[in-house]
Amino acid sequence: SSTVAVILVAAGSGTRLGHAEPKAFVPLGESTILGVALDAVLGMHETPHVVVVAPADRVAEVQVRFAEVAAAASAPFDVVPGGASRQDSVEAGLAVLPRLVDTVLVHDAARPLTPSLVFDEVAAAVRSRGHGIVPGLPVVDTIKRIEGGHVVSTVDRSVLAAVQTPQGFPREDLDDAFASADPTFEYTDDAAIAAAAGFTVDLVPGDARGFKITVPEDLRRAEQHLGVAPH
Ligand code: C5P
Repeated sequence: SSTVAVILVAAGSGTRLGHAEPKAFVPLGESTILGVALDAVLGMHETPHVVVVAPADRVAEVQVRFAEVAAAASAPFDVVPGGASRQDSVEAGLAVLPRLVDTVLVHDAARPLTPSLVFDEVAAAVRSRGHGIVPGLPVVDTIKRIEGGHVVSTVDRSVLAAVQTPQGFPREDLDDAFASADPTFEYTDDAAIAAAAGFTVDLVPGDARGFKITVPEDLRRAEQHLGVAPH
């Protein structure tokens, strides 16, 4: 029994990756994007309760393929079908968490190289500060505001952060935030849902390896990081 849970969202189609398979099922090294991400989750110091949110037609396959690796790490393991939006998928994961879970981390399977230490640090910060935590990095590019194809101004990047996952929250806060979220608004991360509900969210340092695999070039970068031959 674990009091920290990780909801690993893997139900996206990943059309920008240009693969026939949904993104999480694309080969990476000797495994898949999802398999590598799951290894990072299971590498946490504190054994988490893991919920993989998968495309509806891949739920059984994920259960068969990864139940053993989760059991070997003594991690309680559930697989549930996702929804049309990322928000729906996170909500599906939240719905199956056992009562004793008090801290929830939500992680994109599409960020498979995020070090286990980042999960540990986010969980520890949620517990010590009692509110939401997101890992993020400084913005290195110069960011412009654009109107009608014209550059109208430069945004002060010193007040910006490029945020990643895992994003962690006290379980009660995340449940409340999702219950009060606007179903028609497209939130791009869980921190936006928590903030919209009035909860405080803090930034902690992210890690360059937490980049999201979106386009084919990102997959090459992940293969290079792992030191494996490209598929
Ligand atoms: O599409 P994008 O890369 O931004 O998705 C981020 C993460 O959210 C991915 O891991 C993806 O599998 C997940 N997702 C999901 N359900 C959706 C859409 C995205 O689980 N409906």
